[in-house]
Amino acid sequence: MRTKIAAGNWKMNLNLEQAQTLVSEVVNMVEDEYKGSAKVVFAPSFPFLASVNYLLKNKTRFALAAQNVHHQTSGAYTGEVSIDMVQSVGAAYCLVGHSERRQYQQESNALLATKLDLCLSRNIHPIYCLGETLEERNAGRLWDVLHSQLRDACFHLDEQQFSKVVIAYEPVWAIGTGVTATSAQAQEVHAYLRQHIEQKYGTFVAQSTSILYGGSVNAKNAAELFSQPDIDGGLVGGASLKSREFTEIVKAL
Ligand code: PGA
Repeated sequence: MRTKIAAGNWKMNLNLEQAQTLVSEVVNMVEDEYKGSAKVVFAPSFPFLASVNYLLKNKTRFALAAQNVHHQTSGAYTGEVSIDMVQSVGAAYCLVGHSERRQYQQESNALLATKLDLCLSRNIHPIYCLGETLEERNAGRLWDVLHSQLRDACFHLDEQQFSKVVIAYEPVWAIGTGVTATSAQAQEVHAYLRQHIEQKYGTFVAQSTSILYGGSVNAKNAAELFSQPDIDGGLVGGASLKSREFTEIVKAL
């Protein structure tokens, strides 16, 4: 059985007080209204990790994620955050390779491979994001792009390491645009990714890998997306900033 996950990626939003309020509200609503077994993951900005972690103490259904980590373990990298820092404030997950970082920080698959190694060396589950731009999709390069994002960043991992990785398919054209991939489009890609994972790591690992969909997930479209056989949850941006809406997305799992 693979883990169902609803992860909220807050990006560069909220202040400390707003972050604490959002987490408290979601925790209360989910505890009151949701009886399922999905994991609920919050990915706040670095300054809020410790205080959000404090609010999640002893709540096993909830977990903390960092939005990024630096690829070096320590040293003279002003303004950067290391894997040990992230670990020491209680993050159990870390986003790796979000398209905004690929785009604005020029993060390559090779660099992301290093970040995956670092996360796994500290027993932190990477949520490895991949996805095509509209240009790539329209040029018929969808499968090539996805295949190389998966292979070049992940396929050096052994089976045991890979089994700790969560995959998030996030078509770039659907992120923050209000244009969601249809459930059929998303399912097609998820099935393709699972098939590639199976070819590399075998059926057991492929069947246990959680593959999340991200890109304009909201309370209205979540249930339809999550009903697809290869969609194991969502990585949610904008809609994760509203406690009621994010709770409804959790409940859709
Ligand atoms: P969105 O963002 O839900 O606002 O489209 C998703 C993401 O970037 O992870």
